[in-house]
Amino acid sequence: MKLKIAVLSGDGIGPEIVTQALEVTKTVCKKFGHELTFKEAFVGAVAIDALGDPYPPETHALCLESDAVLFGAIGSPKYDNNPSAKVRPEQGLLAMRQKLGLYANIRPVTVFPSLIHKSPLRSDLIDGADFMCIRELTGGIYFGRPQGRSEDGKTAYDTCVYTVEEIERIVRLAYDYAVKRRKKLTVVDKANVLCTSRLWRQVAQQIEKEYPEVETEYMFVDNAAMQIVQWPKRFDVIVTENMFGDILTDEASVITGSLGMLPSASIGVRTSVFEPVHGSYPQAAGKNIANPLATVLSAALMFEYAFDLQEEGKLIRDAVDASLKAGVTTEDIAEAGKGRKTSEVGRWIVDYIKNN
Ligand code: IPM
Ligand code: MN
Repeated sequence: MKLKIAVLSGDGIGPEIVTQALEVTKTVCKKFGHELTFKEAFVGAVAIDALGDPYPPETHALCLESDAVLFGAIGSPKYDNNPSAKVRPEQGLLAMRQKLGLYANIRPVTVFPSLIHKSPLRSDLIDGADFMCIRELTGGIYFGRPQGRSEDGKTAYDTCVYTVEEIERIVRLAYDYAVKRRKKLTVVDKANVLCTSRLWRQVAQQIEKEYPEVETEYMFVDNAAMQIVQWPKRFDVIVTENMFGDILTDEASVITGSLGMLPSASIGVRTSVFEPVHGSYPQAAGKNIANPLATVLSAALMFEYAFDLQEEGKLIRDAVDASLKAGVTTEDIAEAGKGRKTSEVGRWIVDYIKNN
């Protein structure tokens, strides 16, 4: 098969972790006889520095002509403490999501048996937890207008907007996953307060009728935030709006033992993007210590979701599991003093794939 991918490393630890995921991708392609072509492009703070735009037109053009995008991370402290900066790296990520129509962000949350002791949560509560958070990614308060400041600068406002079409599309997708899994869907909203949430619930209740085999429950987001850490095994598929999904998935990463373990797939109308849930971790940039596994697992999702190559994805997962069992891990999840370098973990996984 021919695989044409765009590689956007972005900022901070992005280049280091994407290098490892790309090596893994190359190795898998070689092993299974796929023809891989890839091109790199700027995004985020590095794109602002190089071209004055966090998502330059040439990067967008490359994404459009690619079957999938492998993405690192975005964000730089240079901009974080400067609220008056005219362009921010994050705008690049948001522009990419919007222009590529990446409406569904799928974040699987699974527990790695060898990491259970790393989670601050009680192991009997998380052992066996396996759910999928489906976050709407191109609507809500992230994109609603108006947004801004009053003339005197003393008032600021954001607007949360959702249309029936946007809600239908993501809720249907969530049901389609629930059908293939344990047939339970949790619709998370704040319908006791927000108008947009009431529309979500109304639309979801309509679609619910089309999926009688799926058990549907509706949950307020504050309650969901509690239940995700209190009783994570009760969840199968969660669907929610943009900002709730952002917050709940960082929280859910605690179940896996490290934010460095959570991959994601953003399904779009034009192409799909595969990226770790974590950010650019600037404090670790250039030190070769960042955990590459969320990005390597995102590459596994790329094989499975973008190219329907299940065996290839499975081999990457097996390699990651094996590296965890062998204790070849970066310092965030290693035993004290036994942390390996980002590149060592990557090389170990590449070798495993070659030999298995
Ligand atoms: C994420 C990130 C982004 C978001 C930021 C960097 C804009 O936190 O992908 O979860 O809020 O969506
Ligand atoms: Mn986030």
